[in-house]
Amino acid sequence: MKQHSSHGIFTSLIVIKIVCTQEWNYHELAEDMWPYIYVSCGSTQQSPIDIQTSNTKYSKFETFKFSADYDTLINFTLQNNHYSIRTFDSIQEKLLTLEGGGLPGTFTFRQFHIHWGENIHQGSEHQVNGKKFSGEIHFVYLNFATNQTAVLSFLIEVINNQTLENEIDYNTTSLWHSYIEKALLLNGGNITYFMGNLSEFIPVHNLSKFYRYYNGSLTVPPCSGNVIWTIFNNTIKFLEDDITALHKIITDYNFREIQPLNGRIVSASFRDDQFDTGQILRIKQWILFIYIIIIYFPNY
Ligand SMILES: *[C@@H]1O[C@H](CO)[C@@H](O)[C@H](O)[C@H]1NC(C)=O
Ligand SMILES: *[C@@H]1O[C@H](CO)[C@@H](O)[C@H](O)[C@H]1NC(C)=O
Ligand SMILES: *[C@@H]1O[C@H](CO)[C@@H](O)[C@H](O)[C@H]1NC(C)=O
Ligand SMILES: *[C@@H]1O[C@H](CO)[C@@H](O)[C@H](O)[C@H]1NC(C)=O
Ligand SMILES: *[C@@H]1O[C@H](CO)[C@@H](O)[C@H](O)[C@H]1NC(C)=O
Ligand SMILES: *[C@@H]1O[C@H](CO)[C@@H](O)[C@H](O)[C@H]1NC(C)=O
Ligand SMILES: *[C@@H]1O[C@H](CO)[C@@H](O)[C@H](O)[C@H]1NC(C)=O
Ligand SMILES: *[C@@H]1O[C@H](CO)[C@@H](O)[C@H](O)[C@H]1NC(C)=O
Ligand SMILES: *[C@@H]1O[C@H](CO)[C@@H](O)[C@H](O)[C@H]1NC(C)=O
Ligand SMILES: [Zn+2]
Repeated sequence: MKQHSSHGIFTSLIVIKIVCTQEWNYHELAEDMWPYIYVSCGSTQQSPIDIQTSNTKYSKFETFKFSADYDTLINFTLQNNHYSIRTFDSIQEKLLTLEGGGLPGTFTFRQFHIHWGENIHQGSEHQVNGKKFSGEIHFVYLNFATNQTAVLSFLIEVINNQTLENEIDYNTTSLWHSYIEKALLLNGGNITYFMGNLSEFIPVHNLSKFYRYYNGSLTVPPCSGNVIWTIFNNTIKFLEDDITALHKIITDYNFREIQPLNGRIVSASFRDDQFDTGQILRIKQWILFIYIIIIYFPNY
C-alpha cells in the first residue's frame, strides 16, 4: 500500500536503499521517494494530470500522419522490465514515424507499455474529471532532431465480451487479448515475441478527438520533462481477465498519482457537442415561446 513517511531516518534509509540498488518501485520505494534521487520527479511540471474537460481550451489540430509501415507485420519484443512490459520492434528495420496532430517535427516510435491498478476501478495515470480508468497504454515517441519525447495515450475501459457490438472495437480488443496471452509467457522468462501491426494496436481510424498538453513529463523516474502528451477521448476496451492477468506476471499496480497542473493549459481537439437534457428542454421552451409570439403578433 502507498504510504507517506514523515520520519527523517526512515526516509534516509529508503534513499540509501535506492542509491545502493539503483531501483525504484511503486511500493516501499514509491513515488514520494523518487524526488530524493531523481530531482526532476519533484519539479513543477509533471505528469500525469487530471483533465478537467470544462477547463480545456478548444484548438484545431491537423490530423495525425502515420508512415506506411504501421500496416506491416512487425516482430515485437515484449520485455518484463519489472515496472511494465516494454514492447518494441525487435528488428528495428521498419520506418514507424508520426507527424501532424500539432507535434513539432517527425517523431519515431520507440516502445509501448501498459499501466494498471490493483483492481479495475483504478490503474490509469491520467484522469478525466477526476475519474480513474482501469488502465492506460502509452505509445512513446522520440524526435531525433530535437530529443523531444511525445506520448500517445489511451485510457483502458473494461468491457465484457457481450457488449463489444462494433466490429472495429471487437478486433482491437481481440488483438490486445492475443497480446496478453503472449505476455503471460513472461511468467517463466523476461522476453517473448508477438507478431502484429502497430496500426491495429493504435486504433488509427478514430484519433480525431484528443486532449493535448505540453511541458509534461515521463511518469516514471527519471521523470524527464518537456514531454508532449496526447490523451485520446476514444478508449481501448479490455476484457477484465486480460488486465488483471498482468498482476500475476509483473506487479499488482504501476500507476503514478496525478500531479498539479501549475498553470499549464490543456487543449481539446474537439468541442463538447453533447447537449444535456436540461439544455434540450430549454431550447424546446424557447422555440415554443417564439412560435406563440409569431402566432399572436403576426404583424411584427
Ligand atoms: C498487417 O497488415 C498487413 C498489410 O495490411 C496485412 O497483410 C497483415 O495481415 C496484417 N497483420 C495482421 C496481424 O493482421
Ligand atoms: C522475432 O524475433 C526474434 C529475435 O530475433 C526471433 O527469435 C523470433 O523467431 C522472431 N519471430 C518470428 C515469428 O519471426
Ligand atoms: C535526450 O533526453 C534525455 C532525457 O529525455 C537525456 O537523458 C539525454 O541526455 C538527452 N540527449 C541529448 C543529446 O540531449
Ligand atoms: C476484423 O477482423 C476480421 C478477422 O480478422 C476481419 O475479417 C475484418 O475485416 C476486421 N474488421 C475490421 C472492421 O477491421
Ligand atoms: C468472445 O466470446 C465469443 C463467444 O463466446 C468467443 O468466441 C470469443 O473468443 C470471445 N472473444 C474474446 C476476445 O474473448
Ligand atoms: C532476463 O533473465 C535472465 C535470467 O534471469 C537475466 O540474466 C537477464 O539479465 C534478464 N534480462 C533482463 C533484460 O532483465
Ligand atoms: C470524452 O469526451 C466527452 C465529451 O466531452 C466527455 O464527456 C468524456 O468524459 C470524455 N472521455 C474521455 C475518456 O476522455
Ligand atoms: C470513436 O471515438 C469516440 C470517442 O472519442 C467514440 O464515442 C466512438 O464510438 C468511436 N467510434 C468508433 C467507430 O470506434
Ligand atoms: C512550456 O515550455 C515552453 C518552452 O518549451 C515555454 O515557452 C512555456 O512557457 C512553458 N509553459 C508553461 C506553462 O510553463
Ligand atoms: Zn507510461
